[in-house]
This record gives sequence, structure tokens and C-alpha cells, in this order.
Amino acid sequence: MKVGDRHYRTIWMEGTVVYMIDQNLLPFEFKVQAFKQREATCEAIRKMTVRGAGAIGAAAGFAMAQGFISNEDPDIARERIRATRPTARDLFYAVDRVYEAGKISVQAAIEEAQNLANANVEAAKKIGFFGDALIKDGARILTHCNAGWLGFVDYGSALSPVYTAHRNGKQIHVYADETRPRSQGARLTAWELANEGVDHTIVPDNAGAFLMSEGMIDLVITGADRIAANGDVANKIGTYEKAILAEYFGIPFFVAAPLSTFDHNTPDGSAIEIEHRSQDEVHYQTGPDGDGKMHTIRVTNPGSEAFNPAFDITPAALITGFITEKGVTN
Ligand code: MRU
Repeated sequence: MKVGDRHYRTIWMEGTVVYMIDQNLLPFEFKVQAFKQREATCEAIRKMTVRGAGAIGAAAGFAMAQGFISNEDPDIARERIRATRPTARDLFYAVDRVYEAGKISVQAAIEEAQNLANANVEAAKKIGFFGDALIKDGARILTHCNAGWLGFVDYGSALSPVYTAHRNGKQIHVYADETRPRSQGARLTAWELANEGVDHTIVPDNAGAFLMSEGMIDLVITGADRIAANGDVANKIGTYEKAILAEYFGIPFFVAAPLSTFDHNTPDGSAIEIEHRSQDEVHYQTGPDGDGKMHTIRVTNPGSEAFNPAFDITPAALITGFITEKGVTN
């Protein structure tokens, strides 16, 4: 994606250093951070400097390559990377691929990590091409979380068809779910859409039924963190609710994801590990004051407990179809 007059990927590796757009600072500050060692790249995944299934897959591959470069014990390095976040299948897929390549040579590990990142871009581009066919001129699309350029190495999954449709001249409007508690929709998806010049509106997470009942949504497209063998989908908490609503109102609900997100070894959604994150993400919000200085404030009742599962499982029966780099399947 272009920012200013430069094309950026979300994450890339030059020499031994991994570079990432800091997603914790967006949309208020655009900054690229450098990570020189495997452990620093792991910390960036944990703290969500980089997030989104495709992007953390690339990060995990690069981290494994850094482990080989630093001559770390490959088994220990692999386990540390696997322990950063549990749900996205791409992370495990990438780390295992680079681990295997590293048995040949350090150079082979680096090349495999770079190849995986490039494959991620190519898959996302094709998802855009195939998904565009589902988007009619004038369509109003609901999306959840951020499955765009920032969630991948480039282009995105759910938003890639949106960008292709927009570039093909279709008049479209995207409703971006806010996606509490980390607000990836309100912060990242909205920033991307604005940057691409796509008409959009941020909506509260609980507005879905109202929007659909008023006939304001034609299509729902989300991404996925892991897709089980039976087609159940793990994605950002709140995706399941949107799928139930789409079924109730007879609105198509598509999931866009590359084949690397499909996990044929996991029979169904009940076997997918759901990440639980700190309750502080629910209690506190961070943003700039009038002078642009960042502040973190409590937004919940002091002393109350919060519960913060990061993903939920949408049963296959609620999904109209999948958009992958091979086409649209129903
Ligand atoms: O916790 P996050 O921000 O990593 O969660 C991201 C999502 O749930 C995305 O929708 C998903 O990874 C699919 S596509 C990037």
C-alpha cells in the first residue's frame, strides 16, 4: 500500500533485520520499527506491534530465520515463536516451513521466509481478484476487525476484494465494526480505507442487527485466523455474532483467507485454541489528547473484572463461502 509517495509492505526483512509498521501507534502515528533478533521479533508479535494472521505468519517465518542466523538452538527458537500467539494457523505454518528449510542451511531458511512473505502477497492479490466478482456496483459491505493490508504482508484478505472493486471503479461503501477491545476496525481498517479513498463508516460493534434490519448491508466479508477441516472458522471475537445476524437477515457471509490458513489437522472449531488476552485491554483505552500526546485512560468501573477472549468460532453452516487464491468456494 502507498503511504505518502512510498509503497510499503506491513512487514519485511532486509539482511538480518525485520522491519514492521507499528500497528500499536496507528492511526495516530506512522512509524516503522526494526527488530534485530529473534526474541525482539517474538516480543513484537506478543505485543501486537504486528498482528493479523497473514502478517504474524510472515513475522514468525522471519523470526525463525533470525534464530538460524544467530545460531540459536532451532528447537528452542521454534518453541518460543510458537508460544507467542496460539490461534492463527499461518504462524505455525510459517515457522515449521522455515524450521525445515534451516536444516539445509541458514541461507535456505532466509530464502524460505522471504518466499513465504512473497507468497502471502500473491495469495492476497488473487483473493482480491476472485472476491471482486462478489461485489456489485453500489454494494454496502460489513467487515469485522482488520483483515486488510495491515493484517497481511500486503493487500489483505477480506479487504483485498474491496480494494480491487474500488480500483475497478465500483461505488462501494464499507461499514467497519469498531472491534473492541483493541479497536482494530476503528483504528486500522478505517485508516486503511481512508488511505485508499474507499467510502466508509465506523460502526459500534453492537450495531450489526440495526444496520441489517434497515437494509443497509448487502454483503459481509471477514478474514480468518484458522479454518478447521469441517469449515468452522476462528476469527476475531464478534465474528460469530455477525454470521448469526447475516443468516437471520439472509445476507451472504463470506470468509476470505489464503490456503495457509486452512488447518486440515484440526477436525472442527472445538479443537482450535482460543487466545485469551489481558483484561486490561477491556479496561483501558489509549489515544491522543488535543496536543497529540498519547494517553491511556480507564473506561470501565474500577474494581470490576473483565473477560477478554480474542477470537470466537463461526460454525461452517453459517458461512456462505470462502474466497481463497484458488477462487470462491461455496
Ligand atoms: O488479534 P488480531 O488483531 O491479530 O486478530 C486479527 C483478526 O482476527 C483478523 O480478522 C484475522 O487475522 C484475519 S485476516 C488478517
